Amino acid sequence: MKYSRIFGTGSYLPPKTTTNADLEKLVDTSDQWIMERTGIRSRHISEGLLATTDMAIIAAERALTDAAIDKNAIGLIVVATTTPDVIFPSTATRVQHALGLDTTECPAFDVAAACAGFIYALDIADQYIRNGSVKYALVVSSESVTRVVDWQDRATCILFGDGAGAVVLGADEKAGICANHLHANGAYADMLGVTGNMYGSKQEPIRIKMRGNEVFKIAVNKLGAIVEEVLLKNNLDKSAIDWLVPHQANLRIISATARKLNMSMDKVILTIEDQGNTSAASVPLALDIGIRDGRIKRGDLLLLEAFGAGMAWGASLIRY
Ligand SMILES: CC(C)(COP(=O)(O)OP(=O)(O)OC[C@H]1O[C@@H](n2cnc3c(N)ncnc32)[C@H](O)[C@@H]1OP(=O)(O)O)[C@@H](O)C(=O)NCCC(=O)NCCS
Repeated sequence: MKYSRIFGTGSYLPPKTTTNADLEKLVDTSDQWIMERTGIRSRHISEGLLATTDMAIIAAERALTDAAIDKNAIGLIVVATTTPDVIFPSTATRVQHALGLDTTECPAFDVAAACAGFIYALDIADQYIRNGSVKYALVVSSESVTRVVDWQDRATCILFGDGAGAVVLGADEKAGICANHLHANGAYADMLGVTGNMYGSKQEPIRIKMRGNEVFKIAVNKLGAIVEEVLLKNNLDKSAIDWLVPHQANLRIISATARKLNMSMDKVILTIEDQGNTSAASVPLALDIGIRDGRIKRGDLLLLEAFGAGMAWGASLIRY
């Protein structure tokens, strides 16, 4: 098979939201500062038992319904998350069981590439499909980032939200994923991550720490470079891209990437204002919204991109 095509998409956002006005009561910040520096006004928060696994299951069910295929044809499940409910078993095996796909015993595993996780997971599933190992694959991203946010740290607590997105990929002769471009550079690893560790050798809670301004500059630089790489390696003019579906970390980072593509912002699928940064879930959430509201149409050329902790980043060029 030549391509992995997107057969269906789905997403889920937990009902509870936290607005900038709510955060003004927690830390020394303002709606104006947050909007001007990030473009975020509100974010969804997972609570209680509704966490990464449950959100992943709902998004996956919605994607399967949308794809309208026999779910038993799914030959692979990949879940991208850096905020799993437990270290193991994988979220993917839980999703497999909840969907009733345990009877098929298809392979299921998680991928951790932080905010770039969906692009990494998509690439893995694409390889399985194109080499003929499986006909259909389910790719899910689900994150409960707010569970590891330090609500006293105004530089980070304003940024993140929770949610999940999913796609069903299937083999197709005519169109689908044209190319994936992935990169990582561990020299930047200390700029963004969590304090503490899971094994208790550091007696600190697991909380996000970020050198935001430095991350911002590297993100703009690397995303600008990857956009040029995608155009060059795929022999494309900027005008060929119909939609930019970016990771939603900061509106100013997204605007910089759009400018690189000479793209007006109405050709960018934006969710940041109401969702904030949902890490690996942000790209499939934006994709699902753009498809369901009718902006993204069959035949359109999409550029998906994401950048995050690691640092790891990537882009996917897709003929939808
Ligand atoms: C976090 C981020 C919004 C901060 O914006 P910034 O313009 O870089 O701001 P800075 O960190 O330079 O801080 C500027 C000032 O605002 C202050 N500030 C930080 N957070 C604030 C907040 N929520 N409200 C008010 N002031 C705040 C800082 O303390 C600093 O004050 P000072 O000048 O008195 O020292 C921005 O750096 C960013 O989006 N970074 C990248 C995020 C990202 O891409 N993550 C990776 C992908 S997951």
